[in-house]
Amino acid sequence: MNSGFHVLGIWGMGGIGKTTLATVLYDRISYQFEACCYIENVCKIYEDGGSIAVQKQILCRTIDEKILDTHSPSEIATIVRNRLHNIKLLVVLDNVDQIEQIDELDIRHVLLHPESRIIIITRDEHILRAYGANIVYNVELMNGIEAHKLLCRKAFISDYSCSTFAELIPEVLKYTQCLPLAIRVIGSFLHSRNAKQWKATLDRLRNSLPDKILKVLQVSYEGLDEEDKEIFLHIACFFKGERKDYVSRILDACGLQPDIGIPLLAEKSLITIKNEEIHMHEMLQELGKKIVRGQHPDEP
Ligand SMILES: Nc1ncnc2c1ncn2[C@@H]1O[C@H](COP(=O)(O)OP(=O)(O)OP(=O)(O)O)[C@@H](O)[C@H]1O
Ligand SMILES: [Mg+2]
Repeated sequence: MNSGFHVLGIWGMGGIGKTTLATVLYDRISYQFEACCYIENVCKIYEDGGSIAVQKQILCRTIDEKILDTHSPSEIATIVRNRLHNIKLLVVLDNVDQIEQIDELDIRHVLLHPESRIIIITRDEHILRAYGANIVYNVELMNGIEAHKLLCRKAFISDYSCSTFAELIPEVLKYTQCLPLAIRVIGSFLHSRNAKQWKATLDRLRNSLPDKILKVLQVSYEGLDEEDKEIFLHIACFFKGERKDYVSRILDACGLQPDIGIPLLAEKSLITIKNEEIHMHEMLQELGKKIVRGQHPDEP
């Protein structure tokens, strides 16, 4: 890692491979630090015990400080300041979904060693900007070759397919749209199944998103305010691929404040804006449609 920055942010939609990437990075660079820790689920730890619980995890995993239960929040803050400030430290904070979870740690200005680093992983780019990350890396969908390889590795335990499945593989890849989570879930399901079963599975997938994928993606939707949920559902059902100004005019007429809502959905990796058009990953669109069908079961 180059010196000259302290905070690296990694962001992208659910299941795109942020944790996978950060884990590889951590394995490659952690030996260069005097102490390091990878906190996997910051939002959950914060939800259960607040910022003090996250600070305790950092202390116990980096400097092996274990007898912390009797300490007050201010004592913990003092230990963080006294024990961490002068060591070369690497802290990875994965699954951050609110700025408070990192702000309240009060860690950034404590790490005074010039080569200490914090890596923050989130689905929400705004958190990284608001925290002042020096470098923000956007994880992108796999390319077609990587997606093909991953599918073969999951479905056949090899990088290549056999001819029986030659026609079916593009169908699966078209469905999974280069999202590693979907390729892994569906590829593993298809492992050791015959061509007839592959076809039947594809037919099923066209009607419903597998639960394992749905649950991961739904977290992003559930974290939205009501108005932004509405905007997400409108885009999923009607406006995918449409021009941003056209969609904004319609949403505005519905009183949904698209000027804030559309950028917010993009920051949260639920849509992307390319050439002034609004795009949405097909699986997120499927999620949106499923939610709408659930809200209006009587209307097709
Ligand atoms: N480059 C890759 N090669 C092979 N498999 C990958 C790759 N990237 C991701 N995967 C697989 O895709 C799945 C989802 O990846 P990962 O958990 O890293 O996503 P994420 O972006 O951290 O998602 P979330 O926002 O839910 O935390 C994992 O099972 C992982 O093994
Ligand atoms: Mg992750």
